[in-house]
Amino acid sequence: MFKIKIPATTANLGSGFDCFGLAIKIYNTFKFEETADGFECVMNFRNKKEYININENENLVYTTVKKVFDQYGKRLPGIHLEEDISIPFSRGLGSSASAVLAGILASNIFLGDIMKEEDILNLAFKIEGHGDNIVPALKGGFNITVLEDNRIIYKKLEVDENLKIVVLVPKMEIRTKDSRKILPSEVKMEDAVFNIARASLLTACFTTKDYKYFPIAFQDKLHQNYRAKLIPGFDKVIINAYKNGALGVALSGSGSSIIAFCEKNEKYVGEEMVKTLSSYGLESEYLITFADNQGTLII
Ligand code: HSE
Repeated sequence: MFKIKIPATTANLGSGFDCFGLAIKIYNTFKFEETADGFECVMNFRNKKEYININENENLVYTTVKKVFDQYGKRLPGIHLEEDISIPFSRGLGSSASAVLAGILASNIFLGDIMKEEDILNLAFKIEGHGDNIVPALKGGFNITVLEDNRIIYKKLEVDENLKIVVLVPKMEIRTKDSRKILPSEVKMEDAVFNIARASLLTACFTTKDYKYFPIAFQDKLHQNYRAKLIPGFDKVIINAYKNGALGVALSGSGSSIIAFCEKNEKYVGEEMVKTLSSYGLESEYLITFADNQGTLII
């Protein structure tokens, strides 16, 4: 028996579309036991035990395990899986990245540790389709993920764990696939330059732990304006979070969550964000968390 504990992630952070990702202290834990045959799964959503008689073809962890065993031409073991789920689904917080990584890492253990880190990352990228969540989920911290010849390279920076991160989670799912469909296929040169400058600035802010320019570094012209129309009140939430003292505010991944970095007043910022969304008829809750610099743990 072994457990794999994987952090949630927030990708993009405004200006770093498709290349920035940060691990945060919200976790999914996957407990694997080898059995004689077949697949069974118990899912525990934030401590509410449920037996889900889930079709094995719908469980992303198990479909990933099958892909890995297929790739290596090995026979699947029987698996009993217990999932403790705290990362909300389809909210831009890396829940599917956690399932894909769990499936690959578990397979690697069953197969006797035959994969290197780069094999794990590249296979996860192939299955998940985006690397910006995969890398921080595995390694922790803030990561710049680059695709070179369709392979992942990355640079990790440890993030100040005193920074508070407010995560606003609306009662609304957004699928990454849908949230990408509304993006333009081309961007203006001036918008590209706008983002390159701010993304570089954001990396420097994290490196130096100097957050003075965070509000500028989080600005974006490549994706958020288009996606804003999926979330009623999005622009107002951003404005109000800054007004109440947030340092940097962004759509989390492809949404629907919104993150706000704070040095203080984090509860107030969270409450105001919830109130703002509610005035647009959208219910939400907020969580206060911190950066996770450790990444995935195998216990
Ligand atoms: N960067 C992706 C997007 C989501 O914004 O569509 C995370 O992989």
